[in-house]
Amino acid sequence: MRKQIVAGNWKMNNDLSQTEALITALKAQIKTTNAEVMVAPTATNLWQAYNSLKNSEIEVIAQNMHFAENGAYTGEISANMLKSVGVQTVILGHSERRAYFNETDDMLAKKVDAALANNMRVIFCFGEELADRKSGNEENIVENQIKNALFHLEASAFKNIVLAYEPVWAIGTGETASPEQAQDMHAFIRKIIANTYGNEVANNLSILYGGSCKPTNAKEIFSKPDVDGGLIGGAALNADDFFAIVNAF
Ligand code: 13P
Repeated sequence: MRKQIVAGNWKMNNDLSQTEALITALKAQIKTTNAEVMVAPTATNLWQAYNSLKNSEIEVIAQNMHFAENGAYTGEISANMLKSVGVQTVILGHSERRAYFNETDDMLAKKVDAALANNMRVIFCFGEELADRKSGNEENIVENQIKNALFHLEASAFKNIVLAYEPVWAIGTGETASPEQAQDMHAFIRKIIANTYGNEVANNLSILYGGSCKPTNAKEIFSKPDVDGGLIGGAALNADDFFAIVNAF
């Protein structure tokens, strides 16, 4: 059985005291669910968040990392540094990283390798832009993003990979992919994984949906057979909304 996961990507929001306040609100609502629950605070607050949540059911994860172990990369953070503050899972390839920080498929392949070499788990994001969908090119774009960054891996590596389909046109826009659009793309993704790595790898792989996921639409999206959870932006900044989404399972 593949895992159901709901992860909150807080992006560049919340200073230290706001992070503490949100964690306090989350802790007040935690109850055992079927889903794995994760939150990704900004890097400066990871250590604090990890300590506040380490005995809870919420895992603290990172939003990004560099591929090098250490060295002259001013401003960057390595896998080992994340692990040293208790982080075991990292989001890689978010469309905001690709668009604003010029992260390429090649760079992401190196980041994925570095995370896996450090025994970390990766939530690997990808998704088409509006123009790609309008021109009917969304499957091609998604297939290339996945192949270019992941298909050099051995099948066994996929036990530490979670995929997150985040159509760029749905991120922060209030416009959500319909449950059918999400299902169609997730089924397509599972098929291309199965074609290269076999059914067992494909069937055990969690594929999350991200893009304006809210309490009002989560249940319907998560009810689709190939949608195994969500990567939540804006709605994850409010504890009530976030847990309403978690409880949609
Ligand atoms: P929103 O939920 O704010 O659309 O963001 C989705 C996202 O980018 C999660 O990584």
